[in-house]
Amino acid sequence: MAGLASPVARGVPPLRAGQGHSFFWRRLHSLSGIVPVGVFLLEHFISNAFATNGPHAYADQVKFLTGLPFLIFLEVFGIYLPLLYHSLYGFYIWFRGDSNLSSYPLHGNFMYSAQRWTGGIAFLYMGWHTYTMRFSGIHLITNSQAAFHKVQVELQNPWALAFYVIGIITASWHFAYGLYLFCSKWGITVSDRSRKGMLAFSTLVAIAFIAVGFATVAAFFNPQWRNTPEKLPSSPPAIESGTPGGQR
Ligand code: HEM
Repeated sequence: MAGLASPVARGVPPLRAGQGHSFFWRRLHSLSGIVPVGVFLLEHFISNAFATNGPHAYADQVKFLTGLPFLIFLEVFGIYLPLLYHSLYGFYIWFRGDSNLSSYPLHGNFMYSAQRWTGGIAFLYMGWHTYTMRFSGIHLITNSQAAFHKVQVELQNPWALAFYVIGIITASWHFAYGLYLFCSKWGITVSDRSRKGMLAFSTLVAIAFIAVGFATVAAFFNPQWRNTPEKLPSSPPAIESGTPGGQR
């Protein structure tokens, strides 16, 4: 009976497996990795890089961020919920073993696994980092002056330092390669040539993020700013030039 040869192929296409709802959530997962989560990551690296200009510059940047209007709203809807969604759905994709290798045409399995593992490790790091910096110890929202001191004290612990290094590398890798994936998935890069170009760009993004992250961590070990107190002295030049009365 030729007419009944392919009954399974009939139906309303958007409701078939892998389409419809899951297609929507997949796309949302992909988009959320760029906006707002990726944008937040970029902002976070830039804001923290102010530490390379010294404790006062760092405190000013923290004060600016914590003084933004509707801060709680921005945190919850701009960071926590999107990040939670991207992470939890990311674990779901991972453990369901969704084969999405067509988005990884240039290097296949290794990068496919690396994208999952870097996401998972970054998730552990971000949970710990958010707890220690935002929800325990000195309250930075009401005490931005103490920001440099707080990070500096934490980084004295070699395990914490190692975790920062791992967190910086995994988040940078995941985001940078995520840019490449995003462009393949959304049809922005279609040819092999454009994908290779995008891969080169993503590699540069990863190197730039890691370099900026490491320079930021190193700033907290700069002898000029050693033992920065919780309450910064009122005259910035004294502390930042290391002259008498500063932090030596
Ligand atoms: C620093 C925070 C994060 C940023 C900036 C970020 C960003 C991105 C970006 C831009 C993509 C590419 C989007 C796409 O696939 O089209 C992506 C993919 C992915 N992310 Fe994240 N992500 C973050 C955290 C996480 C976490 C914590 C997980 C949890 C496991 C995760 C799991 C995944 C997975 C599984 C993919 C690949 C999806 C696929 O192959 O289809 N991400 N991420």
